Amino acid sequence: MNQRYAKITGWGKYVPERVLTNFDLEQMVDTSDEWITTRTGIKERRIRGEQDTTSSMAAAAGQQALETAGLQATDLDLIIVATSSPDYILPSVANKVQDLLGASCGAFSLVAGCSGWVYALTTANQFIMSGTYNRVLVIGVEIVSFALDFTDRRTCVLFGDAAAATVLEVSYDPGGVLSFELGSDGAKAEYLYVPDGGTVGPMSQRTVDERRQFLRMNGAGLAKFALRTMPSSFKRTIYQAGLTPDDVDLYIPHQSNVRLIEAAARQLRVPLEKFYINVDRYGNTSAAAVPLALVEAIEEGRIKDGDIVAMSAFGAGLTWASVVMQMGEGEISAAHSLFSMGRARYLARRTSDAVIDTAQSAFLPLYTFINQRRKKK
Ligand SMILES: CC(C)(COP(=O)(O)OP(=O)(O)OC[C@H]1O[C@@H](n2cnc3c(N)ncnc32)[C@H](O)[C@@H]1OP(=O)(O)O)[C@@H](O)C(=O)NCCC(=O)NCCS
Repeated sequence: MNQRYAKITGWGKYVPERVLTNFDLEQMVDTSDEWITTRTGIKERRIRGEQDTTSSMAAAAGQQALETAGLQATDLDLIIVATSSPDYILPSVANKVQDLLGASCGAFSLVAGCSGWVYALTTANQFIMSGTYNRVLVIGVEIVSFALDFTDRRTCVLFGDAAAATVLEVSYDPGGVLSFELGSDGAKAEYLYVPDGGTVGPMSQRTVDERRQFLRMNGAGLAKFALRTMPSSFKRTIYQAGLTPDDVDLYIPHQSNVRLIEAAARQLRVPLEKFYINVDRYGNTSAAAVPLALVEAIEEGRIKDGDIVAMSAFGAGLTWASVVMQMGEGEISAAHSLFSMGRARYLARRTSDAVIDTAQSAFLPLYTFINQRRKKK
């Protein structure tokens, strides 16, 4: 049997229009552009508009990813949405996304904090490698602002809202997901958590009075965790793929703080230019951060056909997750073509599907006839 590989064939993003700058935040809490910029590298972030919901943002990014891949929603075998900011506790965002896109496949959400999209991508990879599914839409989406206390300067300056999506498809040419690592350290759960609103602390007047429905963070603890985890996880995953850090064409680290990214580059002894950074424009968008960086890196021409891309995230859980991929031959350059490549690829796929269907329906009676003749003999 032919070896199966899982490759990214489509990508898309949705970022809300509303921009919240460091100067805007100076008017809201006791902070300064200077403090935020020097400690984090963040200059601005996006905040959801009135019409934006987690599912609407996810579906918008998902639709764009389908178009780049030249697929329709009905072609999908599965949708996985990584988010920690769902529309509702129940049902899952993924079901709403399936409906909004007009897909007819299974759909589920996955919670792994900022590592969510990498967890979701590796899950999709398993479905494809096992031969179960051929086309999976993998989305990372967050409206972190809904859980932010805009009176707490230690957290509200760090995060933003966004969605990004990728289509993962089976391929028989080597490449795609080469290796991955998933990690969890639940003992540090309280480093980054929302204390109430779940079964441990159901919503009450006290919850609201004590602002316990908002995100709490141990910044120094998380920084230490990130400094220890991200570079070593990058390394393990790269070596697992049979490569060295120098072989990687582009690193896509979790986008939470430029200082942490610089430290990772130093530890890996890789020039910072090999690290894609957009945290300055979006802040930390949690599960959307790594895929948003991937999508923008492709859009900006930072990733070419056949490039090796290493991605790593860490976050609430605490969790971490890394993946090393080789981008497909032809997939990236096709998307940069002058005319609507998505539509052209869609038509090409439809034509080849139709040819196969016609061939099957033409040959099946002939095949059955020959078989029956054989049996009679
Ligand atoms: C959050 C982070 C930028 C804080 O930077 P830091 O240099 O460690 O700052 P500290 O937490 O030590 O705080 C230093 C001072 O700045 C103050 N401060 C915190 N936020 C501030 C803000 N937005 N504006 C101005 N001052 C602020 C603190 O109150 C503290 O003042 P104090 O000494 O008078 O109490 C850093 O710890 C970090 O990036 N951690 C990782 C966070 C992360 O990645 N989270 C997401 C995980 S997915």
